[in-house]
Amino acid sequence: MTTHHKLENGFSYIEVQNSVAQAKIALQGAHIFEYKSKTDLLWLSKTSPFEETKAIRGGIPLCWPSFGNNNPSLSQHGFARTALFEIIHIDETQENSTKITLRLQDNKSTLALWNYHFELNLTITIADTLSLALQTINKDTQPFTLTQAFHTYFNVSGINDVAIGGLEEKPYFDALDTKHKIQKGTITFNQEFDCVYQEVDKDILLQDKSVTTQISSNGSSSTVVWNPWIGKCARMSGMREDAYKEFVCIETANAYDDFKTLQTNESHTLEVTFTTL
Ligand code: BG6
Repeated sequence: MTTHHKLENGFSYIEVQNSVAQAKIALQGAHIFEYKSKTDLLWLSKTSPFEETKAIRGGIPLCWPSFGNNNPSLSQHGFARTALFEIIHIDETQENSTKITLRLQDNKSTLALWNYHFELNLTITIADTLSLALQTINKDTQPFTLTQAFHTYFNVSGINDVAIGGLEEKPYFDALDTKHKIQKGTITFNQEFDCVYQEVDKDILLQDKSVTTQISSNGSSSTVVWNPWIGKCARMSGMREDAYKEFVCIETANAYDDFKTLQTNESHTLEVTFTTL
C-alpha cells in the first residue's frame, strides 16, 4: 500500500508498506529517508529540516549532476536533492515488493543553474532488499559531463564498532589532506574520514556488531566513505553535535575520475542494492 502525505508547510512524501518492508520517500530530491525491513537501514537526523529548498539530513540524498565540488560552477552535490520530482509509476503488483519511479526534467530553474536538457529517472525497489537505479538521459544537442552519488547515511550502533570491507588494496583520494593513498585492511573510524575510493569492483560489506549490510553496485567504480567526527559534526547544518556516532556514509558514486560524459540521447544508469546478511 502506498499513501501520500503533506506536512503543514507543503512538504510532500509517500509512505510505502508491503508484506516485508516499509519506506518513506520525499518528492523533493526523490529522497528515501526511511527503509525498514530486517533492520532500520537508514540514519535520519532528529534535527533534519523537512522543508522545500533544504536538503534532508540523512537517508539517501541524490548528489546530481555534480558530486561535491566536482563541477565548481554548481553548489555542493548539485541541485537534484532540493528539486521537486514527480511520481511516474508505482508498481504494487507483488505483495513483497514495491517499485516506484520518480522523474526530474530540465525546467527554468535547472536550466538557469546548468544549461542542459535532461531526463533523470530514479526507480526505487522496496523489498527485503532496497535497490535504487538512477538513469540520466542527455536530451540536449550538446554532450554533458556528470558526476553523481547515492549519498547513503547508514544507521550504526556506534561508529567505533564499524568496519568496512571490500575496499582493501584500492587506491583512494583522501579529501582531508588531498593525498592519494592505498587502503590497507578494512576501514575503521577514530577521526574525521572523507575518502574517495577508486577502481571499486566488488561488493562492499558494512559490518556493525552482529549485522552486516552488503552494498552491490552497477555502473560505478568509485565509492565515497565519510564521517564528519566531532569538530565538523558540530559545525554542520541539520545535525546534533554528537550525531557522528550514529551513522556512516558509504556513497555509491561516479565521482572524480569516474565521471561520465553523455552524448545526445545517450544514457547512464547508476545502480545500488543493499542487502542485510
Ligand atoms: C560528503 C563529502 O560526500 O558529503 C563531505 O565527501 C561533505 O566532504 C558531506 O561534508 C556532506 O555534504 P553536505 O553538502 O550534505 O553537507
